[in-house]
Amino acid sequence: MPPDAGAPGPSALPVRLLDAVAERLEEGLVVVGADHRLRFANPAARVLLRLPDALEGRRLEDAVQDYRIPLMVTACLGGAGEVVRELDDPAAARHLVVRAVPVAETAAAAPVEVALLVRDETRLRRLETVRRDFVANVSHELRTPVTAIQLLVETLLGGALEDTSVAGEFVSKIGLETAHMAQMVAELIELSTIESGRLPLRPVPTPVQDLVAAAERLRPLADERHQELRHDVDPATPAILGDPSRLGQVVRNLVHNAIKYTPVGGVITLSARGRTQRGRELVELRVSDTGCGIAPEELGRVFERFYKTDRSRGRDGEGTGLGLAIARHTVEAHGGSIEVESTPGVGSVFIVRLPGAV
Ligand SMILES: Nc1ncnc2c1ncn2[C@@H]1O[C@H](COP(=O)(O)OP(=O)(O)O)[C@@H](O)[C@H]1O
Ligand SMILES: [Mg+2]
Repeated sequence: MPPDAGAPGPSALPVRLLDAVAERLEEGLVVVGADHRLRFANPAARVLLRLPDALEGRRLEDAVQDYRIPLMVTACLGGAGEVVRELDDPAAARHLVVRAVPVAETAAAAPVEVALLVRDETRLRRLETVRRDFVANVSHELRTPVTAIQLLVETLLGGALEDTSVAGEFVSKIGLETAHMAQMVAELIELSTIESGRLPLRPVPTPVQDLVAAAERLRPLADERHQELRHDVDPATPAILGDPSRLGQVVRNLVHNAIKYTPVGGVITLSARGRTQRGRELVELRVSDTGCGIAPEELGRVFERFYKTDRSRGRDGEGTGLGLAIARHTVEAHGGSIEVESTPGVGSVFIVRLPGAV
């Protein structure tokens, strides 16, 4: 039987199957007639193209917001073949790829309908941006120490090696820059381990005092800066259900930041208490400081990878901006949350909520 003999050939799909597929398809599917009137739109297309509810007999240009879509259909009907366009929908913050496919009775005939296939690439786009930014950030952060090391080595080889009064100083500078790079590489590995979900967490009941002890390791640093490091732990605070070494790292990170971003003579306080939130026992840790603070417009961004505020960006060798990203991941992997409140010039408070071990 020739393929165009009327009855569907063995490869044609039954209509009810097509209906079922179109209904569940993640891609949007719209069928437009040669008269530009809408014949069909599946649920995904209604959402992605923000189509109005009543579509019967509507003209495409009255139903879609983006004027470029009807133009694609016109081109398609006019014999342009398949037309593909990437369309940004800023109002819905969506990035769409729309394909207009001509549908004709036979291969040689003029198209009588156009099928619009709409793919939502918003997530993919966002990931691409994140990845691009990430590579740019890593390269930028590595360039500074690498350039410094190169210069120091050249200076040493150019004669400074013989000059014992400066050689030692140059070598110790190389050591510092190398340590900075090593720290960054360690943080990157840590971050990628956490993000890939392969972080082995060993949650056990962890007394808050263990975390206080972790913060205590930074006391020499605070002393050096003539800062007061206080604890204020409610004795009734329940133990935390968490991985002691990971959480110790989070607390150390927050206290280290507080020390770094607080001027000489300031006060840093680590406090803890139990709380009940929606029937769950939580432990709330607060690390507060009397430091430079964070501007309101930057508050939402400090947990992003590599983000450093304007104030801290200029300082060399002062961290990579990964610490808070790691802290947030770790806390969230525990089912907890982390947030920050701050007043520029007055100080900041980082608030961590973790599940209690009760
Ligand atoms: N206690 C704080 N006070 C003021 N700014 C802070 C504080 N903690 C963090 N920040 C800001 O948030 C940024 C990100 O912190 P973090 O991820 O730990 O990076 P890093 O410490 O390596 O700079 C810091 O560069 C700094 O600008
Ligand atoms: Mg830090």
